[in-house]
Amino acid sequence: MSHTRLALGSALLMGLLVGAGCNSGSRSTKAATVAPTTSATTTPTTSTTTAPTTTTVTTTTVAWDTPYTATPAIQNDSLIALHLLAPDQILAGSPLGQIQLIDLAAGTVVSEGSYGSVSAFAAVGGNVFIGTGQPFFMQGGQGEVFVRDAQGNYTVSLDHPLTAITVAALGNDVYAFASNYTGNGDAATVSQLTANAVAWSQDVATLPSCQINKAVAWRNEIWAAGSDNLLSGGLRLFRGTGANFTEVTGLPSARTPNSANELQLVTDIQVINGELYISTVVTDPTVGNVITGAIYRSFDGSAWTTVATTPNDSPMAIAQHQGTLFVGLISGAVQSVDSTGTLVADTGVPTSTGAMSMIEVDADTLVVGVRGTAGAELIRRVTTVATTTVATATPTTTGTTTGTTTAPAMPAITYTADVKPILVARCTSCHSGTSLPAAVAGYPLTITNDTADYAETVNRTNPQTPDASLLLTKATGNAHGGGAVLTVGSAEHTTLIQWIQGGSVR
Ligand code: HEC
Repeated sequence: MSHTRLALGSALLMGLLVGAGCNSGSRSTKAATVAPTTSATTTPTTSTTTAPTTTTVTTTTVAWDTPYTATPAIQNDSLIALHLLAPDQILAGSPLGQIQLIDLAAGTVVSEGSYGSVSAFAAVGGNVFIGTGQPFFMQGGQGEVFVRDAQGNYTVSLDHPLTAITVAALGNDVYAFASNYTGNGDAATVSQLTANAVAWSQDVATLPSCQINKAVAWRNEIWAAGSDNLLSGGLRLFRGTGANFTEVTGLPSARTPNSANELQLVTDIQVINGELYISTVVTDPTVGNVITGAIYRSFDGSAWTTVATTPNDSPMAIAQHQGTLFVGLISGAVQSVDSTGTLVADTGVPTSTGAMSMIEVDADTLVVGVRGTAGAELIRRVTTVATTTVATATPTTTGTTTGTTTAPAMPAITYTADVKPILVARCTSCHSGTSLPAAVAGYPLTITNDTADYAETVNRTNPQTPDASLLLTKATGNAHGGGAVLTVGSAEHTTLIQWIQGGSVR
């Protein structure tokens, strides 16, 4: 087995992660200003002279900054996995094994130590499980799962003979997927730690000839995605619980058919608006370069839609924010998918050589873990909305205009004024409270914390197809434990659709 072959699979992915970047240049933190939108409006007039009218102008400003830069900087390190530990508190893991606790509100950073190459975080109760690996650049030792307790103490939870582990939680269970990135067709294995067990049930299932890159809980199962553990191969996806995992077939592919030098890997897997999203990259494993990337989604795990493709670039992380899918790319770009499905570059993104991980902190804040020009950095996108009242020019009406009126413009539908009252009237009887059944708690509402409720609600909207939003399909009784609480076509249902169409304004 040659050294080239060692640079396979997620080790290859790691090669992308720690490989030399090609971008350099100054960091820019300029603010992008979105054109002001005018809500409210002229009153109908019937006389020839009218009193000056005031207009409320809402200005939305998006600005990026860099709340964390690794010191000392380790060249080519990045933040590859992020976990929201508490509001404004982020656990950030790097491919070179560093874990930081970044407090965005306090502006503090605490280094929590050095572990294996971090792949993913999975929270159960007050514990956070951390899947790590020992890829070729870390001597290829054992894959390990660490557990961080609520006090911030770390212990080894699982030592595994295979070199890399990724983790995911399903309810109170933790699953660890261990892989060996040899390119020899080696199998991956599944290990499980159930809620009250002291020890792991190791290797309860075997996933033949594959490597697992990422896993997530969806529809009461774990979905684990990766690729063939070969020099050239396609995507692999498994679903299941306990020892019963089955392969999901029929995934789309961005590979050239029958190509001998193309391996398609999984870079991220997320549940967004009730659908499963997978971001992928096609690489040439002999030289390690990116050929193309693609993002797919499915509402049922069998029918798949291509959300976007990224020629010559790789999507590394995906997240929903402000009703839009955001994508972080290996080129350092951060893009969002517009209403026509086209990827649009965000402006003012600080320069980096790879946008590797991403999470929404709250409705106005998205953070991206990057490979900064010197080392690991966290960059942040903050949206601020300012409202000002200005006097507008008097609309002049000539002649006698008895009975002629200007139709009032439709006032913007907002979360606070229009959507929240519907949720309080129709949803919170079941969806808020202290000891909700787990399934209902999937959509938790507090009534008192608008920021949290707004974020949970926007996360269940589908801006491309508003009436297909999980928020509405559930509310109208489509596979909903609460039955039909809204009627299609009712005033409340129409308001929710118009709110999503209008951009889910806070
Ligand atoms: C009578 C109780 C009840 C009411 C009222 C109710 N729900 Fe639910 N809801 C449930 C139950 C039970 C579940 C869990 C089972 C399921 O997924 O259907 C659920 C699940 C959901 C989910 C999926 C959970 C997730 O993870 O995203 C959404 C979304 C949802 N409800 C939206 C709504 C909305 C919106 C309203 C109000 C317009 C509403 N519900 C009102 C009982 C209710």
